[in-house]
Amino acid sequence: MIRSVITGTGSALPANCVSNADLAERVDTSDEWIVERTGIRQRYIAAEGETTSTLAIDASRKALAAAGVDADEIGLIILATATPDHTFPATATQVQAALGCGGGVAFDVQAVCSGFLYALATADSLLRTGMAKKALVIGSETFSRILDWDDRTTCVLFGDGAGAIVLEAKDVAEDGPGILASRLHAEGAHKDMLYVDGGPSTTGTVGKLRMKGREVFRHAVVNLADVLREVLEETGMKAADIDWVVPHQANARILDATARKLDLPSEKVVVTVDRHANTSAASVPLALDTAVQDGRIKQGDLVMFEAMGGGFTWGASLARM
Ligand code: ACO
Repeated sequence: MIRSVITGTGSALPANCVSNADLAERVDTSDEWIVERTGIRQRYIAAEGETTSTLAIDASRKALAAAGVDADEIGLIILATATPDHTFPATATQVQAALGCGGGVAFDVQAVCSGFLYALATADSLLRTGMAKKALVIGSETFSRILDWDDRTTCVLFGDGAGAIVLEAKDVAEDGPGILASRLHAEGAHKDMLYVDGGPSTTGTVGKLRMKGREVFRHAVVNLADVLREVLEETGMKAADIDWVVPHQANARILDATARKLDLPSEKVVVTVDRHANTSAASVPLALDTAVQDGRIKQGDLVMFEAMGGGFTWGASLARM
């Protein structure tokens, strides 16, 4: 059967690391409050000249090298971001030009923190229908540019970064590697709980992120547990079969609460929120690459990806590496 197989991963972070103590010099907060409520200890913040596309290009080059794939073999690039370099053209097309993969398909997906899950499911569908043989699926964000740095309830939570995977259509056995199932959801009625108060067609400005943190937290735990169960049901797997969960890194307490709901041991959950904070669409591929690089995630492992973000949007995918 034809499946989309993850053959390489890569990631990139800005050079500038900002600790909680650094932030406490700017807004009325403390390392203790941030660690206790979120698990975050530091985040990376893009400097001038570091953009969503430069981070994406860096992560993509590493993913291509890991997969042993040349840029000109890539027929499809899907880049998930809510912080594109420009309103248009799509940041994916800039990545395509910089890498030198001409002629294929390149577009952005905007589902905020769930963006990578949306991009992954879309790329998987397009590969399985034969539109391309090899794809780059990227999550890249510079949320620091849409934060209100005077709002302590949001500015401490986010960071910048990028992660990328190479996804290849391969003929594999039933128990072979590849994306086994994906489920996506959106519920637009919750727009006011997490949004940016600007945009080209409303204010004509970029705007700043606004959030009702408590409400987001409550919805995240319920929606994520539900979508994980849906994917398990669809694949006939049990939570105990999963080797690793690579979740969206929003908050350590959301990760713990979701794992508890499904009886998943916390040792199976890849956690990078302490180092990277919430990097929105970049967080899942960034965490995946971290766990591949440090040797935790290996070939043959069953890995569950999940995310929830503004919209609300949410989703999960199960893959064998
Ligand atoms: N430093 C110090 N104090 C703070 C800070 C801060 N950075 N931020 C808020 N506070 C204060 C508040 O003003 C409030 O003070 P008050 O009681 O005097 O009014 C107090 O801390 C408690 O505030 P709450 O908002 O009730 O704190 P809560 O325990 O809910 O934690 C948090 C807030 C961390 C935002 C939590 O609600 C959360 O994690 N929500 C999920 C949001 C999220 O992760 N969003 C990311 C995008 S969506 C996604 O990725 C899933």
